[in-house]
Amino acid sequence: MPMDFKDKCVLVTGASRGIGKATALAFAEKGAKVGINFRSRIDEAEKTLIELSGNGHQLFQRDISIKKEAKALIDDFVNAYGKIDVLVNNAGIAITHKVDEVDFEEWTSAWEQTLQTNLFAPAHLCYLAAHHMIKAGGGSIVNVSSRGAFRGEPDQPAYGASKAGLNALSQSLAKKLAPHHIHIGVVAPGFTETDMATETLTALEKEKMLQETPFHRMAKPGEVAHAILFLASDESAYSSGTIIDVNGASYLRS
Ligand SMILES: NC(=O)c1ccc[n+]([C@@H]2O[C@H](COP(=O)([O-])OP(=O)(O)OC[C@H]3O[C@@H](n4cnc5c(N)ncnc54)[C@H](OP(=O)(O)O)[C@@H]3O)[C@@H](O)[C@H]2O)c1
Repeated sequence: MPMDFKDKCVLVTGASRGIGKATALAFAEKGAKVGINFRSRIDEAEKTLIELSGNGHQLFQRDISIKKEAKALIDDFVNAYGKIDVLVNNAGIAITHKVDEVDFEEWTSAWEQTLQTNLFAPAHLCYLAAHHMIKAGGGSIVNVSSRGAFRGEPDQPAYGASKAGLNALSQSLAKKLAPHHIHIGVVAPGFTETDMATETLTALEKEKMLQETPFHRMAKPGEVAHAILFLASDESAYSSGTIIDVNGASYLRS
């Protein structure tokens, strides 16, 4: 059955670039009106907006790691569209802070920044969006996690922990919100061809990463977007609470 998002209003955080951009493009292709959230790169966000098919899409520049900005994002979106059918918590950051190398200040700062962006912000946005969805009689949320939540992130421990927390948050809310006809899914990508992956990896690490998957390549952002759309669709409501791996069989969970 083809996924149809005609007349749906979809908010994608971190949609100026990478996986968020591919997700915004895919939702627009399926008829949705898309809100493109981003933090600072307005030129990239404007490029994304121009590339979306259909009409009614808008930019929402807000730093979701700041509590009042997250609240303003949902308020602005609902004021613009009158409702929120789908929330995709995609925006995320990855900071390298090796436990045996950084000083305590750097260690604590990495934890605070990472958790604020990757865990607290999605939690607050889920809360705010869910309240509108409850009043409207339903909706869906997809949270973008990571393979790192399962296999460990030795050089980016706050990142791995934030994504494990996001998985637990999503599964808790999937149970709590099902009676309100809100379903919640998680997509856990492995390395994906975006700025985040290319900025993080050295040439040697990239080579090692390519050896990890029998596909010998990174995921394409559109492949992650495909799983996000599936979980956001009405047809996948009964899959609520599930986590879809998009990691090229590089890390298989039992
Ligand atoms: N790429 C990978 O290999 C990979 C693997 C596993 C999981 N993931 C996850 O997939 C998601 C997307 O990753 P990506 O690789 O597409 O990232 P990316 O290319 O680095 O893009 C990050 C996006 O998030 C936005 N953003 C960051 N902090 C924000 C904030 N505080 N408020 C609002 N927007 C913010 C950025 O906005 P600006 O453009 O304004 O900076 C940008 O749109 C993340 O959650 C990441 O953890 C990625």
